[in-house]
Amino acid sequence: MKIIAYGIRDDELPYLKEWEEKNKIEVKAVQDLLTTDNIDLAKGFDGVVAYQQKPYSDGIFEKMNEYGIHAFSLRNVGVDNVPFETLRKFNINLSNVPAYSPSAIAELSVTQLMALLRRIPEFESKMKSGDFRWAPDIALELNQMTVGVIGTGRIGRAAMSIFKGFGAKLVCYDVFRNPEIEKEGFYVDTLEELYKQADVITLHVPALKDNYHMLNDEAFSQMKGGVFILNYSRGTLIDSESLIKALDSGKVAGAGLDTYENEVGIFDVDHGSQAIDDPIFNNLYNRENVMITPHSAFYTKTAVKNMVQIALDNNKSFIEKGTAENLVSLD
Ligand code: COI
Repeated sequence: MKIIAYGIRDDELPYLKEWEEKNKIEVKAVQDLLTTDNIDLAKGFDGVVAYQQKPYSDGIFEKMNEYGIHAFSLRNVGVDNVPFETLRKFNINLSNVPAYSPSAIAELSVTQLMALLRRIPEFESKMKSGDFRWAPDIALELNQMTVGVIGTGRIGRAAMSIFKGFGAKLVCYDVFRNPEIEKEGFYVDTLEELYKQADVITLHVPALKDNYHMLNDEAFSQMKGGVFILNYSRGTLIDSESLIKALDSGKVAGAGLDTYENEVGIFDVDHGSQAIDDPIFNNLYNRENVMITPHSAFYTKTAVKNMVQIALDNNKSFIEKGTAENLVSLD
């Protein structure tokens, strides 16, 4: 058995080598992201492992089928950049890593929220210019706030347990209710109800067709004034122009964003001194009450190790047994 892994960064290599030695299976590491231009490297291999934020094009899977490869394993959780119909057409199995470290994502979201509540960016920039006064940057305390968690999967639940530790009140919404959370009585029946109660709204749902721009003008209009918005899921969940309007009006007091709807080409790129050619992004990026990280919530040692090794386990399982623990349904 031979596996090829694309888009492998230097920090992933030790984990890949460790897996290779433990499993006695050859894994070829390719630095470049998977495209139709380099899929030919996969000829002669039994499975493909990949990770990227860019969409995977149809031609990749046509070639995989031609080379007799039917095992495709992602090292991340989101599958919104994979053309399901094409995989179905070529009978290619897809797996992801749904729980490489829910805490990694949850911890960054809470970190950014705390920085926003304690006005860290404002103090930092004031102090850099010699102004060490407190006012007017008075802070808020999380223990006095209600946090609305949208999506109570693994990441949402990891975030909830941290928020609980801070003494925040919780409300949450999900179409699929978790029995444990149900017992604790945190669910509200509608998003409107959550918007009405929450001082902080944190998104932990996958990107789907029917939640595109779920936070739009109408949703913001239903929220409390001075709400904080956190998005560590997918950029398409928020209409960025609506968010800008809500920040301008003060409806939204601050936002922590690890994702942006047009992030491909912006994140994971060294722009040097070159300006970013996206006025909407720049508008958000230049605000002190908006903290942006470049889709890096996942980027911890624990998460990266799990992403590499669980993806390889899945791929091996597809090759050996035709199925895997983290098989993604293509329906
Ligand atoms: C995912 O796992 O889907 C993520 O969003 C993190 C990714 C950038 C590695």
